[in-house]
Amino acid sequence: MPPEFSPARGGGIVADPSARPDTVEADAIVTFLTEGGVGSGAVATVDAAADGVISRLASAGEITGKRYECVPILAPPRLRSGQIVVAGLGRREDVDAGVLHRAAATAARQLAGRPRARVAFVADARWTPRELEQAVAGAAVGMVGQDLYRAEKKRTSFGTTLWLGAADDVVARGGVIADGVNLARRLVNMPPDELYPQTFAEEAAGVAGRTGMEIEIWDEERLARERCQAILAVGRGSSRPPRLVLLRYRGVGGGTTPDLAFVGKGVTFDSGGLSLKPSESMLTMKCDMSGGAAVVAAAATIATLRLPVHLVAAVGLAENMTGPAAYKLGDVITARSGTTIEVHNTDAEGRVVLADVLDVVRGLSPGRIVDAATLTGACMVALGHDVAGLFANDQEWCDRVARAARAVGEPVWQMPMYPEYDDQIRSEVADIKNVGDGRWGGAITAAKFLERFVGGIPWTHVDIAGPAFAEKPRPWIDGGATGAFVRPLVELARGPG
Ligand code: BES
Ligand code: MN
Ligand code: ZN
Repeated sequence: MPPEFSPARGGGIVADPSARPDTVEADAIVTFLTEGGVGSGAVATVDAAADGVISRLASAGEITGKRYECVPILAPPRLRSGQIVVAGLGRREDVDAGVLHRAAATAARQLAGRPRARVAFVADARWTPRELEQAVAGAAVGMVGQDLYRAEKKRTSFGTTLWLGAADDVVARGGVIADGVNLARRLVNMPPDELYPQTFAEEAAGVAGRTGMEIEIWDEERLARERCQAILAVGRGSSRPPRLVLLRYRGVGGGTTPDLAFVGKGVTFDSGGLSLKPSESMLTMKCDMSGGAAVVAAAATIATLRLPVHLVAAVGLAENMTGPAAYKLGDVITARSGTTIEVHNTDAEGRVVLADVLDVVRGLSPGRIVDAATLTGACMVALGHDVAGLFANDQEWCDRVARAARAVGEPVWQMPMYPEYDDQIRSEVADIKNVGDGRWGGAITAAKFLERFVGGIPWTHVDIAGPAFAEKPRPWIDGGATGAFVRPLVELARGPG
């Protein structure tokens, strides 16, 4: 397996199937505990090695095993490690890959508050390979902070992460998945004056080079030749011209045409355009390329894992600004597909960009399409910060996307796509307009708009406006980009779930 493609990994992540908690030398040993006491399993081994200190503290009620509780036991008896961290998993029957991912991330985030040369995590033999892999990924995501530009870092990646009782290949996969998540986080966290369409495309080219993917970058001339007037219209208000990035990975065993197409919204900054956003809503709009970052990062992960799939990933890149040439309310744009779009609100720009990207991808005849986009505030009104909205033209495909997300512990919820919603995007002067009648059902009318451009190919749209960016820190991650939907996309490429 090629080395990591994201520089955030620290000194490395290694499996040590034979190392034991009583002999391992580390700054800290992380062990996982469910509610109801030590019982059997890996934590019991650590407890026994440390003279029963964990069970004594559990009986005294100092350690409960509640979800994401993280209790350090400093200078534990008999061990050759500086501390034990007991990470809570909640009720045993509710433990899944997502809980393990976040619990491992919580412990790692806490320990990464100061430099540590060596941190050992103890895997439990009862976990499935998928659960272990997601726990490994969680630890490697949690130890990475968001303070790209702070002189004094809040988090320092561990020198070495050791996984006791874990198989080599599973740990390696977990590390690669974390590289993907951390890559997406880094891209999203970059300030908009540093990451704009051209530099995003350059970052993607770097990633393609490191992971052996083919890449095409369409500049404004190529976009014009390809009739991508919708992408060009959104980009016209900015001094930074738009781009389209097309990545391709042909895995051994994949089809001759793409089995799967990923599409991402890459609005590197969304001011709202002439339908200007108020300052408070604009503040975090560097996150509006999170879908694009997720699909690039997921494709890189899939290529590194050498999954047997033929994949294309396409990102529509534009900066939505108010410059003198900005697209205007009342403008009618002829999208690449020939569909005409009347602009009623320049802040509904994501769907306009995606109209052309979806059409480009449709032309490549993929078996299935999934897009990820920070598309609507309305989706956050409906589902809150943590849950992504799913919208589809094909129930089977939607179910597979939902299963992949749940398998790695990212919550999703499907929204309806009744044909009645189509009436709301009818325009008097063009084929469609870029907003619904009023704001009700705004996440759905946005999805209905996208549906017009997929040409009947099984397609699922994932609105990640909520989960992509955490304004406040959570126990398992610092505030900022989350890398939302990278893990589900990787899981999806692993075949029918
Ligand atoms: N990028 C925003 C959606 C968004 C909001 C993402 C909050 C992340 C957090 C999108 O381009 C947008 O502005 N949508 C409008 C659509 C409206 C004008 C129909 C919205 O949701 O208000
Ligand atoms: Mn917008
Ligand atoms: Zn936007």
